[in-house]
Parts: sequence; C-alpha cells; structure tokens
Amino acid sequence: MALFTRRTLMTGAAALSLAGPALAQSRADRRKVAPILTTADAVDSRSYARPRDARVTHVDLDLEADFARKVIGGKATLDILARDGVDEVVLDALDLKIASVTDARGRPLQWILGEKDGDKGSPLKIRLGGAKRLVITYEASPGATALQWLAPELTAGKVKPFLYSQGQAILNRSWFPTQDSPGVRQTWSARLVVPADLVAVMSAERLTPKGEPAGPGKRAWRFRMPHPVPTYLVALGVGDLAFQPLGARTGVYTEPAMMAKAAYELADTEKMVEAAERLYGPYRWGRYDVLVLPPAFPYGGMENATLTFLTPTFITGDRANVSLVAHELAHSWSGNLVTNATWPDVWLNEGFTSYVENRIMEAIYGRERAVMEADLAWDGLQSDIRELGGPADPRTRLYGEPGGQIDYFKGETFLRTLETLLGRDCWDGYLRGYFDRHAFQPQTTAGFLADLRREVVKGDAALEAKLKLDEWAYGPGLPANAVHNASARLAEVDRSVKAFTEGRPAASLPAKGWTTQEWQRFLNNLPRQLQAAQLADLDRTFQLNASANGYVRSAWLELAIANRWEPALPSLRAFLTSVGRGLFVNPLYTGLTRQGDWGKALARQYFAEAKGGYHPSLSDGIARRLASAG
Ligand code: BES
Ligand code: ZN
Repeated sequence: MALFTRRTLMTGAAALSLAGPALAQSRADRRKVAPILTTADAVDSRSYARPRDARVTHVDLDLEADFARKVIGGKATLDILARDGVDEVVLDALDLKIASVTDARGRPLQWILGEKDGDKGSPLKIRLGGAKRLVITYEASPGATALQWLAPELTAGKVKPFLYSQGQAILNRSWFPTQDSPGVRQTWSARLVVPADLVAVMSAERLTPKGEPAGPGKRAWRFRMPHPVPTYLVALGVGDLAFQPLGARTGVYTEPAMMAKAAYELADTEKMVEAAERLYGPYRWGRYDVLVLPPAFPYGGMENATLTFLTPTFITGDRANVSLVAHELAHSWSGNLVTNATWPDVWLNEGFTSYVENRIMEAIYGRERAVMEADLAWDGLQSDIRELGGPADPRTRLYGEPGGQIDYFKGETFLRTLETLLGRDCWDGYLRGYFDRHAFQPQTTAGFLADLRREVVKGDAALEAKLKLDEWAYGPGLPANAVHNASARLAEVDRSVKAFTEGRPAASLPAKGWTTQEWQRFLNNLPRQLQAAQLADLDRTFQLNASANGYVRSAWLELAIANRWEPALPSLRAFLTSVGRGLFVNPLYTGLTRQGDWGKALARQYFAEAKGGYHPSLSDGIARRLASAG
C-alpha cells in the first residue's frame, strides 16, 4: 500500500502526460504534447516498445538488493497511457524472471515474454484489459548486464561490498522492466532496501538522507524524479558511502577512504554549474551531486540525472582532468534535457556535450586551457578517421553508427565550426534557445537541422552553402569548412617529441611541469617504434611504469606494447587488473592483439585474471574481441 501514497509525489510533467486523452487531440495540440509523450516519427530499433500505441509514463520501483545472491528484485509499478482501442503494451526485458503481472487491484493480467534477441533482450507483452496501472513482480538475473556487484577487495575500504548500475545505452532493461528507449520519457520513483550498514543513492531527489528501518539488518532509501527522463538515466549506487557538500547545491558521495582526494579534485564543481547556467540557462534538476565509484567503473563518467557517476581515475591530485566533470555536467543540458531520440542520434548528446564541456572549461580556466583540450580532441578525430579506414568510411558519419569517438570529436568540431561561422553571439543565443525550446524532449538529427534552419539560416542560400549542414550531419569524413585552433602549449610539446625522436635524452626535455594533457600529446605523438634504450630512458627519467596517473600510464603502456617492451609487463598486468575504465583498458587489449602470438597470449592471460573485476559491459566486449582476434 505504501506504493500508492508515494505515487502522490508525482507532479508537473508527469501529470501533463497522464492528463486526458492526449493521443486523440487536435493536430495543433498534439504537436505541443506529442514530443513529451514520445518521439514523433523516429523509430528505435533497439527497443521492442510501440510507444505510439501504448506507453509508460511513470515507473515506481520497490526493490531489494540481495548481496548474498547478487540479485535485485521486487515490484515495478508502471502507469500506462494507451491509445483508444489498444489493449496491449510492450516493454523491454533482458533476462528478467517475471513472477506475476497484475493491475493495481491485484487482478492478474495476461502476459508473454518473447524470445530473447542478444542485448536487446525480450519483448514483454501485457494484455491491459483496460488497466492503466500494472504491477510486475520480478527478479533480475545475477548476471544482469547493467549491474556490477563488487566484492569488498575491489573497493577503496576493502571491507564492505558495493553495487552500482550503468544504464546507457540499453542495459537498464536487465534490472527493471519498462520501455527502455530514449524517446520514451518517464517520471519515476523508487524505494530500495539494502543491508543496514550500506548507503543507497539513486539518480533522483533523495527523500531519505539517512534511510529508514526496513526489517532486521535492513534499511530502505526512497527517491523521486519529478521530470520525465529517458530510462538510461536511471541509476543506483550502494556501498559504504559518505557525503560532503561542495557548494550550495553540489556535493560528492564516495567511500570515506576516497573523500578527501575526491573533494579536493572536485572543488570547482559549483563554479562549473554557475558557468554553465550563464551560458545556457538555468540548471533545471535541483541538486548536482557526483558519486565517485571504485576503479571498476567502466566509463570516465556517466551523466545520471542529478547524480553524475565518475571514475576515481580522474583524480590525479592536480585537478587536471576536471573537464570530465564539465562534460557530465554539460549533459544536464545536452542529453538529459534535450535527448537523442534514438541511438543513431547519439552525437546530439555526446558531440553537443563535448562542445559545451569545452565552453565551461574556457569560462573557468581560460582560453588557452580550452584550446589545448580542443586540440587534443582534434588529434583524436584525426586518429579515429585514420583507424576507421579513412574519410570515406561510413563509420566516420555523425548520424548512424559512428566508430571510435567520432560522435564526440566530429560532433564538437561541427558545433565549433558553427560558432566560428555564425559568430559567438548569434550561436550562443541560438544554443541557449535550443535547449529551452526542446527541454525535456527527445530530438532527432533532422529535428536539430530543421530547428537551426528555422531560427538562424532562414532561407539564406549563401549561409546555407557556407555551413554545409547536411554534409556534417550525414556525410563521411571532415567537411572542408572544419575549424581547428592549434594550442601554443601543445606546439611546445611537439618540439620535445621531435627532440627526443632525434636522440636527445629524456632528462633534457622540459617535462617538469607538464600536465596530463601535455603528457598525452607527448606520448601519443612519439613514433610507434622506438629503441629499447629510449623506452628505458623515458621510464627511468619519468617513472612511467609506476605512474599513478591513469591517462599517462595507459598512453605509456600503449607505446610499450607497440614495441613489445617487456619491462612494462608487470606494470601492464597491475594496471589491467586494478582499473576497469574502458577508455584506458580497451586500447591496451587491442594493442596486444595486434602483436601476434606474443601479444594475444598476454591479452588472454591478463583478461582471465582481470575480468572478474570488470563491469559486464566491458568484459563482454573484450571477450568478443579476443575471440575474433583468433
Ligand atoms: N554518456 C557517456 C558515457 C557512455 C557513452 C556510456 C556511451 C554508455 C555509452 C559519458 O557522458 C561520457 O561521454 N563519458 C566519457 C567522458 C569523456 C568524454 C570526458 C568517458 O567515459 O570517457
Ligand atoms: Zn558524454
């Protein structure tokens, strides 16, 4: 019954999308409401949902996390809005064990779980019989692909276990049943029961700062998200968590052993929120907190609403990698407010966000820092295009299935080009308006281009020709108008690359005060083939094998692998078995598989040892690639 009192918390946009026969309105009204209901014309091939027939508007979860069995389960109560005459709703489910489906009064409803199709999972089809609310009693599988259950050894404190989820892109269907499609926004609420000595957080307003009793040895934590969000932004974290405020509406959750370092690194977080607001309008999500996870977290960061998840590897003691925080914060506008309608539109999230991230960095740390970081992104773009087989390859397109980090690097270069060609005043005004006009709605690539044409181009044929919008969005390679600003500080580093390549000793390089970014440029731009003596000189002079900076360590290990330089192997093994951030470890496994039998054998050996500590989404990917490497 507690379920139903919690439901009264639902307000605002949720109420709007539940109100009246929304699907049978006049054209004009429909145009106003439909985008909140669901994507108008984009079809998401990665979801079974048919949201234009029947869609989920609110999810309420009442779950318990069982650490002994590594299973999460309980009840999901879904509010459904169905078109007249439609009596079936289709949900997404991946390896869920469904016990029962009833209406709000407990009357059983007919349901069928279709055949499983890989990561997409199974359609869960439910006959509504007029019901507007469904109660699904279920359990996730111990192998749920969104979840990682960490043994105490893999945490900072080493005493208590840890659990967290990673939903993007289509993993959340492995721990709760709903329409798991970014174009189907849903409000949600949750009650999560966990062992009494652990703290639970979720990506929503935290209603129980201290938890509440929930039976012997257990505590319950409650949450609510009043804004309709795409389901990939629903996330949980459970562990020995402390909290420290950073500013009026910002703070950090992490294990006590990590807190001092994390809070130091994150000191500018509140300033970042203020800088973003000055650029793009109010932060609409209430609090902005971050959760610093154990090193197994597979990403640098994940923009879960109100609660960004971060890898601890961004902490290098010098705040050099806080662009990661700027990035995840930027998603509060590009991604969380205006969301890719389907996954082929993901550059609308990541490309826009990489651009906004850089603007936040410029606002706080100045132009040179921003130009330096944009210059590294340009390097990344060039190397991605090369790795993908050159500028004609379809994987270099923004819309579709971009390879490497094309959606990030080419996307931000596109927006930087628009900024330069339109002028900052015009462009900034447009972008601020764009976030406002499409707030809490899905967006397609075509929708963005149409909006820009309507607001800015306004039929000006010369401007249209100058911008090359369609070539940027749909064409491969890099359009001729691409803007690139080179960094003077990195040009300085290039001189060191040259000097060292020509035989100067490592000790003669001006590397003393180099930041992470300068080290990345240096290590990534060295020739892939070096003498063993040169590698030994670099390691002796800069202790690269022992570097605690994950960015430096991984770039160095890539170079060592390319040279089959065996003195790096203990460092490589230690790194691969202690860090699960894909951006660092994926290139190392790939590098090894390119080094014949020598490298493939090592890759298999290290992976066998490390995989138990990786998030399922990372270990599944590496396993696949190792298998196909032969
Ligand atoms: N949303 C992404 C993480 C993500 C992308 C998860 C695709 C699942 C599928 C996040 O905002 C991100 O881009 N993280 C980057 C940060 C970096 C570009 C600053 C990362 O993890 O490295
Ligand atoms: Zn991102």
